[in-house]
Amino acid sequence: MKRCNTITELRRTLREWKQNHPGGSIGFVPTMGFLHEGHESLIRRAADEHQLIVVSIFVNPLQFGPNEDFERYPRDPERDAKLAEKAGTDILFMPSVEEMYPRPVLTKVMISGLTDKLCGASRPGHFDGVGTVVSKLFHLVQPDAAYFGQKDAQQVAVIERMVEDLNIPVKIVACPIVREPDGLAMSSRNVYLSPEERTQAVALYQSLQQAEQWFADPDLTAGEIRQRMSELIRRSPLAEIDYVEILTFPDLEDSRQDIPLGDLPPGFRYIAALAVKFGATRLIDNRIYTVKGR
Ligand code: PAJ
Repeated sequence: MKRCNTITELRRTLREWKQNHPGGSIGFVPTMGFLHEGHESLIRRAADEHQLIVVSIFVNPLQFGPNEDFERYPRDPERDAKLAEKAGTDILFMPSVEEMYPRPVLTKVMISGLTDKLCGASRPGHFDGVGTVVSKLFHLVQPDAAYFGQKDAQQVAVIERMVEDLNIPVKIVACPIVREPDGLAMSSRNVYLSPEERTQAVALYQSLQQAEQWFADPDLTAGEIRQRMSELIRRSPLAEIDYVEILTFPDLEDSRQDIPLGDLPPGFRYIAALAVKFGATRLIDNRIYTVKGR
């Protein structure tokens, strides 16, 4: 595995590889590091489908709000390098903030509509930061495909739309959520949780599991299920709900909240998306449900 800390080095390495591998395809996994099995699953999937695997590790200041955890976001580059290599990375791009943003950023990618709900509503400017850095990384790496986790479902929707709107020639691949044995979605931020918070954090997963049964009931509505999920999460005393939403999928629209599920066309999909705070730690999770009809 080759490590590149500068854009010049990355570009030179990619140019040489392309010269030596005409027609070879490149798979790309952007991350903010502190890698876990969720990230590794993306790298392994990319490695199954492409010849050259590029992984980036960059904690992107542009996507953190002023009172968020940019400074204390967990970092461990040496451990990350080992994990990335083991999972199949060929080039690890780890630029500094100065390398990515040598001057104040005057050009940003702003994705509207899709970003005014869920995490976009609680984290103003977050998705413009994500869109801007991902589009920079796509220009630098020029991959054939890029791999994202369905854990950040809204991020996947935003990136898919950006790529479509701007005709960026990259295939976006969404990969399943990887979980701890008790169901908690893996996240670099899980290390912030105290033992008690960690135990109660399983409430997100439990409510998504429980909703599976509710979504099978043709007489319930999305609005009612949303209510029940919130109640279930509130039973954990340390949980503070940021949002519990049920939106249509893949459009992420807040419509069809009051229609009994049995009256919807079979195959209709909803996504339940949650953001819940435990102390200062904000966790997200989601699941997609398909309506079966009566
Ligand atoms: P980060 O949070 O490091 O996540 C990198 C990728 O790993 C994202 O696509 C995310 O959805 C995926 N991922 C995280 N936890 C996962 C899990 N439990 N199962 C499956 N995939 C998981 O998302 C970002 O970084 C940044 O916003 C980034 C896209 C790199 C732009 O800065």
